[in-house]
Amino acid sequence: MSSPTRGESTGVLRSATVDALLPRQRAEIAPGAVHVPGWLSAVQQRELVTACRDLARPPHGMERVRLPGGGLMSVRTLSLGRRWRPYRYTGEPVKPLPDRLVELGRLAVAETLGGPYDPDVALVNFYDDAAKMGMHQDKDELSAAPVVSLSLGDACVFRFGNTETRSRPWTDVRLESGDLFVFGGPSRRAFHGVVRILPGTGPHDLLKGRLNITLRESGRQLAHRLP
Ligand code: SIN
Ligand code: MN
Repeated sequence: MSSPTRGESTGVLRSATVDALLPRQRAEIAPGAVHVPGWLSAVQQRELVTACRDLARPPHGMERVRLPGGGLMSVRTLSLGRRWRPYRYTGEPVKPLPDRLVELGRLAVAETLGGPYDPDVALVNFYDDAAKMGMHQDKDELSAAPVVSLSLGDACVFRFGNTETRSRPWTDVRLESGDLFVFGGPSRRAFHGVVRILPGTGPHDLLKGRLNITLRESGRQLAHRLP
């Protein structure tokens, strides 16, 4: 597994010509954070896009989430398994997390960080050309289990930082359709965000825009054990 120096870009700063010639490599971006390019086959990508389209319909479909400050997030979000609202999981009704996503999550963890994985929630985010996501931590889960991220459609610049601050050091990673990114262990609480979408870079006819699915263990069963 190749490990880029922290602060370097993986694939972002190279020219499009060089990118097209070099196979993209699996890389450990930080301890516990693994990028696996092209993890999903073209058939799997198509199946996931179709499933997300169905799940995104009402009731309990995809919508723009309002932040506590009053503004709307630029992505559209679909909660599966449990409904997420900034910054907690609520008891409101949602569609169940499909078994296929649980299976893919287990396989993703087994092939990267190892260990058991029992995801019970997913957030599916849709990005149009202008959408982005600021640097944040995924810290609404009580479980320390990894986050599994699957990307579909247009590529994006994904910024993976550190656990202390929103600022450097970080690594910019180009996430393309079919890529897997898993972060757990010492990187579970790392700040991360989507700097920009690279319009028109996805597989022909798959999707206009970008979909990202993140699977998580909410740790709901741990709640009653807290003081
Ligand atoms: C997220 O941080 O929840 C989404 C990340 C992504 O869209 O790649
Ligand atoms: Mn996140």
